[in-house]
Amino acid sequence: MDIVTIGIITLSDRASRGEYKDLSGPEIKRYFSERIKNRIDWRYEVIPDDPDQLYHLLIEMSDLEIGLICTTGGTGPAPRDFTPQVTEKVCSKILPGFGEEMRRVSLRAVPTAILSAQTAGIRKKSLIINLPGKPRAIAECLDGVYAAIPYCLDLIGAPYMEFTQKGSHAFRPK
Ligand code: MTE
Repeated sequence: MDIVTIGIITLSDRASRGEYKDLSGPEIKRYFSERIKNRIDWRYEVIPDDPDQLYHLLIEMSDLEIGLICTTGGTGPAPRDFTPQVTEKVCSKILPGFGEEMRRVSLRAVPTAILSAQTAGIRKKSLIINLPGKPRAIAECLDGVYAAIPYCLDLIGAPYMEFTQKGSHAFRPK
């Protein structure tokens, strides 16, 4: 089984200044460590709420053919929240189903889930998924879309990843 790289980008002014520890990025790491059988190289970045930095990082990671890139934070309505808008800018294709489903499942947990404009899309051979900034939102959202991630990665020609059947089932149609 090949080694695969997964990208994690945390957007937080305060975490990037070291004022508090980022918990959401490590939560993404934990989530996929428990579900992907390949050895994983992590590319993990904590950046301020700065659209230019996010833009360049998403371009850089997808140019490196990192198959799966997850962002956390910056999906809400506040002035410095723009992660979905930058994601839409770099992607050649948006997959609105990811955002729809993540909001739908999140609404069971919090009524404010509709405040997240989180989305997902494709640039080159990368699937980029936005997650809200709260640590507990990571599993809540990923559980909603997990089953569709492996096949999506296959369809875009990302490096092949072996998924376990932990939680919801990874589904690859024959
Ligand atoms: N989704 C889940 N699953 N769990 C949450 O706690 N918080 C919501 C929403 N989505 C939340 C969630 C809140 S309060 C906000 S403001 C938006 O995500 C945007 O959060 P962000 O700007 O940190 O990305």
